[in-house]
Amino acid sequence: MNAPRMHELAQRYGDLGRGPVSTESVTSAAYFEAEREAVFKRSWLMIGREQDVANPGDYLVKRIEPWNATVVVARDRQGQLHAMHDVCPHRGMHVCGKDQRGTRRGGTFTCQFHGWVFGLDGRVVDVPDRDLYYDLDPAQLRMPPLAVDTWEGFIFVHWQAEPAQDLRTFLGELYDGYGGYFDDGFFARAGGYVADLRMNYKFYLDSSVEALHAGYTHIQNNTGQNAQSGTALYLGPGMVTLHRSHRAISAPLGIGERDLAPMEALAFKYGGPTTPYDPRVRERPLPPALNVSRLDNWAFDVLEIFPNTLIFQSAALYAVLSLWPSAVDRTRFDAQVYMPAPTNAAERVAIEYGLVSLRDVMREDLNMAEGCTDALSSGVLPEIQLSDQEMAVRHSYAVVDRLVHAYLAGRVA
Ligand code: FES
Ligand SMILES: [Fe+2]
Repeated sequence: MNAPRMHELAQRYGDLGRGPVSTESVTSAAYFEAEREAVFKRSWLMIGREQDVANPGDYLVKRIEPWNATVVVARDRQGQLHAMHDVCPHRGMHVCGKDQRGTRRGGTFTCQFHGWVFGLDGRVVDVPDRDLYYDLDPAQLRMPPLAVDTWEGFIFVHWQAEPAQDLRTFLGELYDGYGGYFDDGFFARAGGYVADLRMNYKFYLDSSVEALHAGYTHIQNNTGQNAQSGTALYLGPGMVTLHRSHRAISAPLGIGERDLAPMEALAFKYGGPTTPYDPRVRERPLPPALNVSRLDNWAFDVLEIFPNTLIFQSAALYAVLSLWPSAVDRTRFDAQVYMPAPTNAAERVAIEYGLVSLRDVMREDLNMAEGCTDALSSGVLPEIQLSDQEMAVRHSYAVVDRLVHAYLAGRVA
């Protein structure tokens, strides 16, 4: 139905090569330790939406597994965002704790251990029993700062307080392409899923930027995207966009007609803007970076913001999938889904239908990612094979490899 012409992506992205790809980056614990430094401590990482910290005093706490760190983002009374490590400069206790969010109306955080008090910018504002210390200058002490910036309502942090690359440079061509799409007045948070998995984080990224697996992996679910088992869903060359570090694909609607499941038919019929078939979402203008090849039967885009964020974008919903690796074979998966807020009970039911449909698709991909992690863990397979349809996967491995090898070479030099 949409069979590709042969090897067009290799012709377009010839410098990525055509040979097998080493499995070292998904099986080696030493490689993962290098990734912590070369990739995760040198990239901007997306940790939430600005609406999560909308008002002065609001804060968000986020565990960043590849850093072994917990980060606090808070909005001060002037409306400015600050990011700092959640660690007390007295004796190192967490000041805020595990993943959570809230509001500090008083504008301060207090460490539970000995009561040091911090402003919303992480600076020390009070030290109880200060006279007991020797040459302590609280003005010089703070929770260690991080760089923080925002793009289209997403909050990004960087390990370095003053990164070599600002967020605009890091995002490059992506920066201006999505204006207006992530409108908090149109999309509201509908739900989310978090799971700790025995997988290398890259396997989930990989299956999100190729569609070759869809007619096999996803045959069990009833999302209506991929109806015919064993029939590959191909992406034409204009549907794969490789940036310097980031990448995106556009996917067409399903590859075959089929009968809708009864619940699905009801959700589509009454579900309002939670389905791509509703005119209210079809008529909403899309920004230039979405559906770049302007497919008539466009279903969704997947944007992979290097190194660990996927944004699934359709007319009817978007989902932000974050992958937080703590080891070569351990990853926390966090998916947050945004849809137009329901205006009646039928739309509310349809939202739940949309959530579980998406959950099923994600579980099918996670199942493959765990399976690949387990099957490759023996080290018996030194290389994997990639087709032209998997050029974005090849790109992903190449980008990480470039950074890891440069880091390791610098350490040896
Ligand atoms: S460790 Fe925070 S006040 Fe002592
Ligand atoms: Fe998939």
